[in-house]
Amino acid sequence: MYQLGKGRSTEFRFLSYCALPLWRSARLEALPRAILGSQGMVVSSAQKTFYIETFGCQMNFHDSEKVVGSLISQGYRQVEREEDADLIFYNTCSIRDKAEQKVFHRLADFKKLHREGKRFAVLGCVAQQEGERIFERAPHVSLVAGSASYRNLPEMLVQIEGGATRVTGLDDRETDQTFETEFTARGNPHRGYITIIEGCDKFCAYCVVPYTRGKERSRTSQSVLEEARRMADAGYTDIQLLGQNVNSYRDPLGKTSFAEILAAIGELAGIRRVRFTTSHPRDFTKDIVDAIDAVPALCDHVHLPVQSGSSRVLSSMFREYTREQYLERIAWMKAARNREISITTDVIVGFPGETEAEFAETLGLLDEVGYDGVFSFKYSPRPNTPALQYSDSIADAEKSRRLQMLQEHQREIQRKSYQRHLGRKLEVMVEGKNAARGQMIGRTSQNKTLNFTTNGVPEPCVGEYVMVEVTQAFPNSLLGRMVEWAS
Ligand code: 5AD
Ligand code: SF4
Repeated sequence: MYQLGKGRSTEFRFLSYCALPLWRSARLEALPRAILGSQGMVVSSAQKTFYIETFGCQMNFHDSEKVVGSLISQGYRQVEREEDADLIFYNTCSIRDKAEQKVFHRLADFKKLHREGKRFAVLGCVAQQEGERIFERAPHVSLVAGSASYRNLPEMLVQIEGGATRVTGLDDRETDQTFETEFTARGNPHRGYITIIEGCDKFCAYCVVPYTRGKERSRTSQSVLEEARRMADAGYTDIQLLGQNVNSYRDPLGKTSFAEILAAIGELAGIRRVRFTTSHPRDFTKDIVDAIDAVPALCDHVHLPVQSGSSRVLSSMFREYTREQYLERIAWMKAARNREISITTDVIVGFPGETEAEFAETLGLLDEVGYDGVFSFKYSPRPNTPALQYSDSIADAEKSRRLQMLQEHQREIQRKSYQRHLGRKLEVMVEGKNAARGQMIGRTSQNKTLNFTTNGVPEPCVGEYVMVEVTQAFPNSLLGRMVEWAS
């Protein structure tokens, strides 16, 4: 799911939808405590400063939290504007061409700051994909590093501090190590990410990720559980497990399956919600659904990217499942006894050779599954990927037409299906306040936005859980009134 890729800094996504004063106090407390407690470091005014902006998926946002933690542990201080920073980091995404171009625009916009002695670093997928070519295109960049090399950031920073102008971290994708840091500067004190697997071995024909993030490597179940326990002790109630393909998680100690890790985290004292993303249908097993059905803290939401409703297109995408096999997994979820599992997906339209009839199969699949959300994209040819060799490409105008048609189709599905929530009492985690509307912002276990009024009752704080009765349904969100505190 790439819906978070709108922020201008790691903090933006929280500030953008939360009551500012609440977050300010939570965040400012959280960072120095982590640093002072472990390093006894004192913030001084002569400290070197950095700015970081993150593009792309949750994996990138969480990587940035770890990069921020590493930088702070090295004595740097985070600032909120490029102009105030000594070092400017862009953590980039190259999943589609549009995402890739953003970083070059940003580098051009702030090039003038280089003359003031500021240094620029490009991290993430564009860094890994373009490598040293970035120095040619943007000579004011001093550091280019892919995600598999962030473990070496402290050494790379020393080189930059020493005056090096072309530092790279690009050759580490075959490492068996994951990027675990002692210091992760989580931007949200209630909901936190844990990476359980990095990289991807699937090599879908359109996708650049296996080339930018390298081969799959899982963390040990022991270290995942320890991190979850530490987070629960620190007051986190909502944990999201991350990986390009969490279902292919393999415990290097051979002890625990993905479903077992999910259940174990869901049973930790203090943890109220556990989510995971992203899943691959081929590796999505029934024991995951059984775990959701059995453990109340596991959220009733699964994001299961389908990409196309046509088995022919799926085969040409190298997705390794058919429409029928995908629908079998959907049937497992719909058969859950104790839960209504909300299902969302990703779809690519205009993949090379996709016929009108095959596109219609995708529209039909949306009806058949009844998704609660679809992230849809026009196929974007990416460097190094097998699909580049496919000749029968589809014109951009036709891709746009299909995308619009699909989005309208899905909107209509959601306009009707969100009505099913009317009158229900749902638990939400409070995420913030929309002062202009006089509404609090909440998120349900199904990952839906449920805004609500409190009718004179004292407002709950961000991070608290309350029960809300749904009074209105829209295609992408719900509205209601708070009825009581959640137990
Ligand atoms: N073009 C368009 N969409 C893509 N995605 C991945 N690669 C491409 C591409 N080359 C989409 C897929 C994936 C989501 C994260 O991005 O739908 O699930
Ligand atoms: Fe890309 Fe496919 Fe891996 Fe997902 S599973 S990251 S779409 S190659």
